[in-house]
Amino acid sequence: MSKILVVYYSLTGNTKFIAEAIAESINSDILELKPVKELNAEGGSKYFWGGFQATMKKKPKLREFDINPLDYDLIILGTPVWAWTYSPPIRSFLSKYDLSEKNLALWTCSQGDGVKAMNKFKETLKSTNILGEIRFQEPKQYGLEASKEKAVLWAKEILQKIQN
Ligand SMILES: Cc1cc2nc3c(=O)[nH]c(=O)nc-3n(C[C@H](O)[C@H](O)[C@H](O)COP(=O)(O)O)c2cc1C
Repeated sequence: MSKILVVYYSLTGNTKFIAEAIAESINSDILELKPVKELNAEGGSKYFWGGFQATMKKKPKLREFDINPLDYDLIILGTPVWAWTYSPPIRSFLSKYDLSEKNLALWTCSQGDGVKAMNKFKETLKSTNILGEIRFQEPKQYGLEASKEKAVLWAKEILQKIQN
């Protein structure tokens, strides 16, 4: 049996919703990245400070976790789009682990189409083993059920790829 880990960051719950849908549907482990100093999810200041962090390629210190991502055969990584790129906590995570030999699958949550951010995500990972990628637009705003269905279908496709 392949070991699968879903890793994600989420400030306002969209990426978290998708992460939980995926992990539940394929019965994987799940790891939520949490910065030691989190932004306030309410109000508009998050756009300024979050946008600043993302643009400046900041790597905020993450709270410790007791999972070793390198123990897994497949890592499914999810991030919100911040300032046309992946979020700073994901940057922190990627700087800590060399995932170049891992099977990966990637998703983003964004307000717009998220294409540019997905390209940056893939460029950073430089992995030849990206088994799938998918983008979601504001699940909480446009429909949790439809997003869940899309996430579950996608996760099952990925699972089939590593089982074959
Ligand atoms: C700091 C910040 C910057 C953002 N920048 C973008 C962006 O460049 N493009 C976009 O489509 N959405 C952008 N968004 C919207 C988020 O990507 C979107 O709301 C996403 O679903 C949030 O995921 P979460 O609820 O898991 O935190 C931004 C949101 C924040 C807080």
